[in-house]
Amino acid sequence: MSKTNSRPNLESGRAETRHPATDKKLRRLAVLSLTSCVFTLGVLAILARGQGFPGTQAPAAKGPWMDKSLSADQRADLLIGQMTLEEKISLLHGSGRRGGFGTPGAPPPPTRSLGGAGFIPGIPRLGIPDLQMADAACGVTRGAVYGRYSTVLPSDISEASSWDLKVAHDYGALIGRELRDQGFNMSLGGGSNLTREPRNGRTFEYKGEDPILAGKLVGEEMKALQEQGVIGDIKHYAVNDQESGRNFVNVIIDQRAMRDSDLLAFEIGVKESGVGAVMCSYNLVNGDYACENKYLLEDALKKDFGFQGFVLSDWGGTHSTAKAAMAGLDMEMPGDTYFAEALEKAVQSGEVPASRVDDMVHRILRTEFAVGLFDLPADRKVVSIFTGFEVAQRVAEQGTVLLKNAQGQLPLKASRLRSIAVIGSHSDVGVLSGGGSAQVDPPGGNAVPPPPPAPGAAARGFFERIVWDPSSPLKAIREKAPHAKVEYNPGTDPVAAAALAKNSDVAIVFINQPTSEGRDVPSLSLPDNQDQLVSAVAAANMRTIVVLETGDPVAMPWVDQVSAVLEAWYPGIRGGEAIANILFGEVNPSAKLPVTFPKAEADLPHPKLTQQPPPASDADMTSPFPGSRFRMNTRKFEVDYNEGLKVGYKWYDAEGKQPLFEFGHGLSYTSYAYSDLKVVPGPEMTVTFKVKNTGARAGAEIAQVYVSLPASSGEPPKRLVGWEKIQLAPGEVKPVTVTLDSRYLSIFNADKDSWEVAPGEYKVWVGGSSRDLPLHKGITLGE
Ligand code: BGC
Repeated sequence: MSKTNSRPNLESGRAETRHPATDKKLRRLAVLSLTSCVFTLGVLAILARGQGFPGTQAPAAKGPWMDKSLSADQRADLLIGQMTLEEKISLLHGSGRRGGFGTPGAPPPPTRSLGGAGFIPGIPRLGIPDLQMADAACGVTRGAVYGRYSTVLPSDISEASSWDLKVAHDYGALIGRELRDQGFNMSLGGGSNLTREPRNGRTFEYKGEDPILAGKLVGEEMKALQEQGVIGDIKHYAVNDQESGRNFVNVIIDQRAMRDSDLLAFEIGVKESGVGAVMCSYNLVNGDYACENKYLLEDALKKDFGFQGFVLSDWGGTHSTAKAAMAGLDMEMPGDTYFAEALEKAVQSGEVPASRVDDMVHRILRTEFAVGLFDLPADRKVVSIFTGFEVAQRVAEQGTVLLKNAQGQLPLKASRLRSIAVIGSHSDVGVLSGGGSAQVDPPGGNAVPPPPPAPGAAARGFFERIVWDPSSPLKAIREKAPHAKVEYNPGTDPVAAAALAKNSDVAIVFINQPTSEGRDVPSLSLPDNQDQLVSAVAAANMRTIVVLETGDPVAMPWVDQVSAVLEAWYPGIRGGEAIANILFGEVNPSAKLPVTFPKAEADLPHPKLTQQPPPASDADMTSPFPGSRFRMNTRKFEVDYNEGLKVGYKWYDAEGKQPLFEFGHGLSYTSYAYSDLKVVPGPEMTVTFKVKNTGARAGAEIAQVYVSLPASSGEPPKRLVGWEKIQLAPGEVKPVTVTLDSRYLSIFNADKDSWEVAPGEYKVWVGGSSRDLPLHKGITLGE
């Protein structure tokens, strides 16, 4: 009988029997564990020096501030009471030296950073967690270098085209979950700048031209994101509406125009979500940088909107210590030029009161408590690809706008098609994405890898990268029409593309307009002779359908020659499938434009994009960042938003200009009729009406309510004040009630610094777009 040893198995409670041969293995294991112990001790020593593995959390917090029955504010104050000035200041600036920010010669960024856009080490002594920030406007970014997967959602403008709070909720919740799963606890997303400049390279990151639509959607998105235990952020505050010269442009805008439109989007977003952070923008507003602009930060955001969270600067957007701190900036990102030692000195000299530093720290810590960073530390997981695919496809289907559909050309009937030409925009392999810090690395990399730079040529800059997400429209179309011959032509030669179109029953032309942070598009015209391509194909085939993958509104000189136009924006990782579902009618489109598509440049408030002028002298060629050797043209210039209140459709209405496709426009495969408008005044005005599906398919109509204010108000002809998305079966009629927040009927009185409802005659309009409003009723208020 062999000798056995026994030891209790603590997990099962049973005695375990072991063979002597196993002992040898155990001895080897013991040596190994000793070695690993030594290693672990080494690692612990590193951790004790304030470094650690990427994503290592601070030890669980202990102390009276962990009492969950106290409010976030009480808990923050208890914690602040334990902190030294140095510790407080350590929370007020980033530690990154990426991109030339931060003190030259400073030690490399701490290793606990997960490699997101921003990192602020916590304070292990007090259990204050590291702040791990990631850009996440349309999904979690910078996955590739770390081998992390995240869902590439359709762009924000697509989300906005759904006009659907449920879609916004799902969008925010997915981003929040994926951030959390990857160990991040703060998002840098939530773009809410209005489309004053439709050539803006970041329109795809924003939510259109109307403040109420943008504000409601970003509010819902941030609420959902924060429910995942991740701090949300709304940006870029404020009036950062062009990328050209974004660090040097001084925006001139009157206070009322700002409050009634641009800032209102932020106000609604902040109030609806209780968002934890607001990022101030690069530009100057009326002479002061946004990140040291007291009116924007202190007076409007913190005082009037009641924002309780913290303001962080855009990356490199801090320009001073005392001025910025006293104007309301709470955190310098991503470096430490102004809010580290310089701030400590300013406190010691009395330039910045210690109480202001306490307020900055309070705002950060109360947000961390309120959102759950202390109570629910991240529990890292592998991101659910399946959930991501499902949400991404649904958003794309709800956000793709059917702009034109002559003679019911769409949906396509697969059984009646023998041949389909699919043309252009790499639609054999992918769909386009937006560039810059919002770009999400797609799984498997760029579907259209760029050719290596020619010998001696510089590599493409970060903002010049063009990335295609691997979701093939061609493949998805082939799946919908298995019996048709579906052929692809790259569209680079219009003659060859037209020849294929001529021999096909239908031609689908994919069009692209790459846009990116860091640069605006030069004009509303499509690049790369694509207008010529569409015209050539349309001349060869009467049944030409155009699918747009653009970040901005574009001019369409060929619109009368084609039979259908679909705006898919940058549709994300399931874009191909979503487009095919709409083309073949498995999904009935319901999206509406959140931006006006003008006919031509000449119709814009600023027909020419205002560019930064060349340096006036050598003095203009300097570094925008102290300590950096990088020199650039820092000459300031102005953009005067003298169109004031007339943003987007309000401009076209006021100026009597006919757009190509108006704000709120979007077709369906069915039709709707409106009736029975009633308007009941009161502290909250109620608007009721009926919508009927008069066609043969189920669909969803986005019914829109606009109001014309009394002439004495000096407002543009009408403003959007509410909407409702209504699902309707064929023939079904539904009553709809839209309750109007009185703020949405108000105007900002800059002299009194307050909101008021102008007395007089109002008109309520209801219908399916800003220029298709069959119902209207007059009402008198306040007389
Ligand atoms: C962008 C921000 C972004 C930050 C961090 C800046 O250049 O304007 O939107 O969050 O970089 O990547």
